Amino acid sequence: MTESGTPNTSSGWVIVLAVCGVIGVVAVAGTLFLVNQQSAQWAGRPDDVAPAPTAEYGRRLITQTSWLIGPEHPDPAQRFSGNGLNCSSCHLDAGTIPGTLSLTEAFQKYPKFSGRDGKEADLKERIDGCMERSMNGRTLPRDSVEMDAMVAYVRSLSDQFAAMNASRRSVSEPAPFRAPTRAASPEEGAKVFETRCVVCHGRDGAGMLASSDRRRGYLFPPVWGQDSFNNGAGMGRVLTASKFIKARMPLGNATLTDDEAFDVAAYINSQTRAAIDPARLEQDYPDLTKKPVDAPYGPYADSWSITRHKFGPFVDPGR
Ligand code: HEC
Ligand code: HEC
Repeated sequence: MTESGTPNTSSGWVIVLAVCGVIGVVAVAGTLFLVNQQSAQWAGRPDDVAPAPTAEYGRRLITQTSWLIGPEHPDPAQRFSGNGLNCSSCHLDAGTIPGTLSLTEAFQKYPKFSGRDGKEADLKERIDGCMERSMNGRTLPRDSVEMDAMVAYVRSLSDQFAAMNASRRSVSEPAPFRAPTRAASPEEGAKVFETRCVVCHGRDGAGMLASSDRRRGYLFPPVWGQDSFNNGAGMGRVLTASKFIKARMPLGNATLTDDEAFDVAAYINSQTRAAIDPARLEQDYPDLTKKPVDAPYGPYADSWSITRHKFGPFVDPGR
């Protein structure tokens, strides 16, 4: 399989302009921000970066995951991810911006103990965690070009981070998310979604494809449904999602309050999405005391209801 058929950017731009026209001024700022991002992903770098265990190819895999290893790949053996997302749908700007879901400091953290796996996990295993859950796919062979390239890329980010000066390391994000002491309200979240998210992610949460060729993935990724992250993913935890949403969404205009982020995260995570094998979820967190309070699936070490684990309140007034 050659990589000569890499898509061009132009049809994406046409859609971006059309979207601007349809949604008007409110989303123009965010959309322009996106044009920048998308063009940085697809242009300005040779699309023929060859499959090799290099940081350059690793960067491509992270920003063009759907194209290179997605479910629409013409060669079934190359289909590893199972949805239309790219790694960079969550690890924005290919994980290069310090702050929420940045990959700049990931390399040196591994190997480290994983509560979910109940054992020490290395960076390859951590990447596979996102492959199986965030990407609703299957693991990459440990010594594949794809896995080695992603590791090389994450390593190169940590080198770049070490070389950055203090001002470039500083994070330009809103104040960190602080969970309200009440339970999150999916009903209130629906209103936030309508006013702040629908323009890009769609009323049905299904996002907007980049072109009629599904292999190219999304201009605006789906936030629920079969083509989004599955029910075992970190983004399915309301506190993890709230933190990301407050820091980064709406894209280019992240101005939600803690309450709005909390409620809209609960709304998204109340919707139907792809399911990982239930037996896998059962095996997560062999030591249940290590399970995060907002893990949306049991079993749990405590007696809180599943609803409380999904939505809170996460502070126990009795304690
Ligand atoms: C749906 C959103 C989403 C997508 C898509 C996604 N991830 Fe993640 N990723 C997360 C979340 C959430 C975490 C956990 C962050 C935490 O523990 O604070 C994470 C953690 C990671 C980490 C560990 C970072 C650290 O500092 O410990 C790596 C490495 C990683 N992801 C790589 C990838 C790769 C490679 C892909 C694509 C194959 C990918 N992710 C796709 C959401 C996503
Ligand atoms: C201006 C368009 C725009 C708006 C408005 C917007 N987003 Fe996004 N969102 C994006 C894009 C684009 C990405 C993926 C980033 C990338 O690929 O570089 C994304 C990614 C996400 C993701 C992670 C990937 C996924 O598909 O699950 C979540 C969750 C998300 N947005 C939630 C929200 C929520 C909640 C709101 C409303 C508060 C919102 N977004 C508003 C454009 C937007």
